[in-house]
Amino acid sequence: MSTSPSRVAVFGAGYVGLVTGACFAELGHSVVVRDVIPERIAALQRSEVPIYEPGLEELIARNGERLHFTGDVGEAIDGADFVYIAVGTPPTYSGDADLSAVWTVIDELPAIDRRCVVVMKSTVPVGTGLKVRHRLDERGLNLVGYASNPEFTAEGTAVKDFLHPDRIVVGAFKDEDGDAVARLHAGIEAPVVRSDVASAEMIKLAANAALMTRISFINEIANVCEATGADVVRVAEGIGLDRRIGPSFLRAGIGFGGSCFPKDSLALKQLAANSGYHFQLLNAVIEVNELQKRRVIGKLHSHLGSLRNKRVALLGLAFKPHTDDMREAPSLVLAGRLLAEGADVIAWDPVVDGHDLHGVEIADAPEAAALGADAVVIVTEWPQLADVDWAAVGGTMRTRVLIDGRNMLDPAPLRAAGFTVEGIGRAADPGIA
Ligand code: UGA
Repeated sequence: MSTSPSRVAVFGAGYVGLVTGACFAELGHSVVVRDVIPERIAALQRSEVPIYEPGLEELIARNGERLHFTGDVGEAIDGADFVYIAVGTPPTYSGDADLSAVWTVIDELPAIDRRCVVVMKSTVPVGTGLKVRHRLDERGLNLVGYASNPEFTAEGTAVKDFLHPDRIVVGAFKDEDGDAVARLHAGIEAPVVRSDVASAEMIKLAANAALMTRISFINEIANVCEATGADVVRVAEGIGLDRRIGPSFLRAGIGFGGSCFPKDSLALKQLAANSGYHFQLLNAVIEVNELQKRRVIGKLHSHLGSLRNKRVALLGLAFKPHTDDMREAPSLVLAGRLLAEGADVIAWDPVVDGHDLHGVEIADAPEAAALGADAVVIVTEWPQLADVDWAAVGGTMRTRVLIDGRNMLDPAPLRAAGFTVEGIGRAADPGIA
């Protein structure tokens, strides 16, 4: 594979666009990231990174010479060998992916009289590539190739995931375009899966659906464990050691959230439905997840009775640790349900500034959130929570009830400190059984 540096334009300075741009710069390419939000570009030009993603700020700083930011389409496209599209594709009211930002990028492309490749990084419905190809042809951009190169990076580990992926997927209409996109990744050690465009689009959606299915599966096993006295942590360990099953994504909890799974599950469900297929399993995965977020409320009821005027501390707001992303976070559903039940809700998160959560009080430390509380709920497994002196915290609470929504703490010392502890799918507290 040739390693000669290329010129890459990246449209979209969100999580995916910034990580993609910074990582290609790290690989030695010259990158211009373009976004429509002037404040975002201005901040990036001042070396301020508008999102929290471990390692990203350092990567951007280190590659400053090869990485530029602009609001101008012409400047981004000038001399580009690749035009990466990394714009948002949020769900519409119908559940279909909203591709308007993708179409805007395609329509804004200036006349290009040399060979370059438009590469789709955004998650899009199967069939989008073909439609984009037609639109490029209609616009007379026949020299511009098209490829799908889906992303599999997870927030919080995105830089590492990009530079050390399990695989790179490239789907193209023409082999030479696929070859070029594969070459662009020279320096990354990973198998490259080459396919047609539709299959690359489906690989992305199917990968996320498989991961979500595992989570809803283990959450249902957890719920049956609760009903039968088994411990899902041991069960997950026991099944995960089977090489055919594997240990990943078997952590039972209060459901998945984030900017990807909820959106992509709806998009795939809708894609199937639009094609006349009722995707039963995926529908169940989505429904199980919705119910799972609400199970904590039932647990609180069983320990506290009515939640009216009860003080409940939510520890962690982000949809998972090491991110400030609140999109579809289970904490939003929990806070909403608790407020609706008349509880006083106080929350802590080390990164999320929850001041826009109406009716929720924000504490600056887990200990402060728990002060005078009737119950604490671990919503996000931030590592800081493992270092809390829970025995001391228990002494400041009105009632020592702890619901561990992520099964992160060892319940034995907590019980020894007088807590009533309940996890997800774990043997009930002997003290309360
Ligand atoms: C996910 C995928 O992991 C990435 O491969 C993919 O590229 C990305 O979506 C995307 O489509 O852009 P992400 O949403 O950042 O990445 O986060 P994950 O670490 O996958 O977690 C998603 C949710 O599942 C979180 O709410 C997490 O708490 C939950 N989860 C995860 C569980 O409840 N149990 C598990 O065992 C694993």
